[in-house]
Amino acid sequence: MAKELNEVVVVDAVRTAFGKAGEKGIFWKTRADDLVIPLLRALMERNPKITPAMIEDSLWGITNQMKEQGGTLGRLVTMLADLGQEIPGCSIDRMCAGGLTAVGFGITYIAAGMADCLIAGGVEHMGHLPMGFLREPHPRSNEVMGGPSAFNMGQTAENIHERFPEFTKEMADRYSLECQRKADEAIKAGKMKEMIIPIEAELLDGTKIIADKDQHPRAGGTMEAMKELKTPFKENGNVTAANASGLNDGAAATLLMSENMAKDLGLKPKMRWVATAVAAVDPTIMGTAPVPATQKVLKKAGLTIDDIDIIEMNEAFAVQALYFLDRFNMKWDDPRVNKWGGAIAYGHPLASSGPRLIAFLAGLFKENPQAKYGLATMCVGRGQGYSVIFENLLR
Ligand SMILES: CC(C)(COP(=O)(O)OP(=O)(O)OC[C@H]1O[C@@H](n2cnc3c(N)ncnc32)[C@H](O)[C@@H]1OP(=O)(O)O)[C@@H](O)C(=O)NCCC(=O)NCCS
Repeated sequence: MAKELNEVVVVDAVRTAFGKAGEKGIFWKTRADDLVIPLLRALMERNPKITPAMIEDSLWGITNQMKEQGGTLGRLVTMLADLGQEIPGCSIDRMCAGGLTAVGFGITYIAAGMADCLIAGGVEHMGHLPMGFLREPHPRSNEVMGGPSAFNMGQTAENIHERFPEFTKEMADRYSLECQRKADEAIKAGKMKEMIIPIEAELLDGTKIIADKDQHPRAGGTMEAMKELKTPFKENGNVTAANASGLNDGAAATLLMSENMAKDLGLKPKMRWVATAVAAVDPTIMGTAPVPATQKVLKKAGLTIDDIDIIEMNEAFAVQALYFLDRFNMKWDDPRVNKWGGAIAYGHPLASSGPRLIAFLAGLFKENPQAKYGLATMCVGRGQGYSVIFENLLR
């Protein structure tokens, strides 16, 4: 039986500030689930026409689903946010794209009529649950994934440099410096204020703070300083702390709805879903996967890259961003891409980065009413790419 799809819209998107993972991080003494709770409360407060009874699911992307991030966090957090016991919830893992996949699943099941309104987000406390924590790979994992470097994200970026030597360290550093400059400009201009939900946090020494600013951005760098940095993933390699995303703690969430429900409630949604695609590549060069994922999503949408006005690309590493731009014949500093800077500046708390890209798209759509289409794309450990296209409704 053929059914018509419902149009799906993003009503709101919020995030916490992103902290540095580890003892010096602003969230060292804050639990992962305590990063999520204020976002849920904020979504309800910012959208007073929506009651808890309207929320039909709570989908959360999380890479390391154990300890404070385990126990089906998606179900518990709505109760912890005092939204009652009647909101179902689940946790989803597609590593870095866990949150974007939660949004994607949410979209597709609103489209299919399974729900009209839900919350989808991502959270990752890399300080408390580091990458690869307690993982026990299958003995044949190396063999099927192409070697041990597939398990180390920094090494996969070194592999891209090695396999495609046209992308040099100097290009990666220049790209990263520009990313930090754009982020600095955006932060100083107050672009993060609408999306960051301030939360109370306690530092290691007991100082109480309101965490409302990203901790990772690093303005005022130079190519000379970057040149001197160690290459932790390979001797005399190309990937450094300056041209990689960081290790971070954070959460981000979206409120998704059928367009019909948004109309009935008289809401002004920010964007409408157009198409989604996921693709997979050789895991040892996982950072190249946004290319086939984006080719696929463009085809599904009946668009070309020239039709896309705003591109939010998660920069796990500068070299994989450069690869993406090159393969779509775009210049390294194409003005459509990461206008407010990307993960090299803000950090990359794995599963929360996808919904973070959506919050950026929403902000950029608002500022650029002439922009019609926006793309969010990211690479994923184990060799995956995830891309989504939205249409700007703030025009
Ligand atoms: C690259 C990485 C190992 C660096 O970690 P780290 O050593 O803890 O990073 P730090 O922030 O301490 O930076 C290391 C040094 O570089 C310096 N540095 C960082 N960014 C810099 C910049 N833009 N310019 C100049 N110096 C910089 C720091 O000051 C520090 O110097 P110090 O050692 O003298 O104190 C880590 O960020 C990482 O693993 N990133 C990738 C994360 C990842 O794989 N995510 C998943 C993607 S799929």
